[in-house]
Amino acid sequence: MHAIRPEIESFGQNGIARTALARLHDDTVMPLWFGEGDEVTPDFICNAAKASLDQGHTFYTHTRGRTTLRAAIKCYLDRLYDADVHPDRISVPGSAMLGVNICAQMAASKGDHVIIVSPVWPNIEAVFRVIGAEIEHLRQRPTPGGWQITADEIIASVRKETRAIFLNSPCNPTGWVMPRAEQLRLLEFCRERDLLIIADEVYHRCVFDAPVAPSFVEIASDEDPVIVVNGFSKAWAMTGWRIGWVVAPKRLATAWGSLSECFNTGANVFAQAGATAALEEGEAFVHAQQSKFSKGRAIVSAAFKEHPRLEYIEPQGAFYAFPEVRGLTDSARFAETLRDQMHVGVAPGYTFGPGNESHFRICFARRHDELERGLEGILRFLEG
Ligand SMILES: Cc1ncc(COP(=O)(O)O)c(C=O)c1O
Repeated sequence: MHAIRPEIESFGQNGIARTALARLHDDTVMPLWFGEGDEVTPDFICNAAKASLDQGHTFYTHTRGRTTLRAAIKCYLDRLYDADVHPDRISVPGSAMLGVNICAQMAASKGDHVIIVSPVWPNIEAVFRVIGAEIEHLRQRPTPGGWQITADEIIASVRKETRAIFLNSPCNPTGWVMPRAEQLRLLEFCRERDLLIIADEVYHRCVFDAPVAPSFVEIASDEDPVIVVNGFSKAWAMTGWRIGWVVAPKRLATAWGSLSECFNTGANVFAQAGATAALEEGEAFVHAQQSKFSKGRAIVSAAFKEHPRLEYIEPQGAFYAFPEVRGLTDSARFAETLRDQMHVGVAPGYTFGPGNESHFRICFARRHDELERGLEGILRFLEG
């Protein structure tokens, strides 16, 4: 069969889909497997989108996003980071995921070497596999103080044919947060080498000891080779809206708009009105979410920290726990059996890149009583 490229022919389901899709609409399963909370998007955001529809906003719009939303993103970033982001650097893809795709298309061709800091959400690797890039996973190290990888470890793996470094901080699934000093060191190297950093910061507000995680937006200048990908899904409970934003080098504005036309001709127009409201009026909601995630983490830590079968590192950010089960050799079977016997849905470790076969991931962005019920099922399963 030659009609389809081999990269596509060989595509299978990722481990999260493989475990979850079979029981997607089964209410008896506690769904800790996906990367989203259980809250409906707040009314003030929904109402802004409804008003936009009522005003007749149903036409094509700017391929890099409506000017009102781009202005709101600039205000938000300037306020959050005490920055002055040039408006030409901001674009609005129809999801952070689409943003990662456009970055990948900009950076890499078939055979190019791409470094991915892992463990990593499986869809990211898929983006580069579609291109046919050569992917090298650089795995963070679990240490008692948290997951760690230094800029120098990343730099040591850069080759002549490396075209991009992807990193996600705060990290799904480990909760790793890249410290400012490491960001500076990596940026300095990539600036000199003109090597693209794709910094996925969709969990920027999901941190526990600060209002926001360190961002490349704070340190990259207008033409540095950095694209920061972000979105509305996580902090504003908008996973179904499919809208994100990026901060890219200024000179890429036109290219971004043109590539955006190849994908979805710009984000959904009335979702953009909701996103504008999220940025302008959403701080109280974000703070409430932060307390909820913080309590969720405390509940998980109490259950996992001293467990004799688990190696558990408390996450510094995002809203996942990624424990290792001592002696586990088949994470897919673990997740499927847990699902079928205890009715708790977790994501199997293997899907987050090499070296994770003895891990599983849960999302703790849920109502605390439900989270506790899910954890009880996991603990009983580990005892059995
Ligand atoms: C690391 C990471 N990047 C990107 C995304 C995608 O976000 P969006 O819903 O905006 O496409 C996710 C979603 O889970 C994620 O975990």
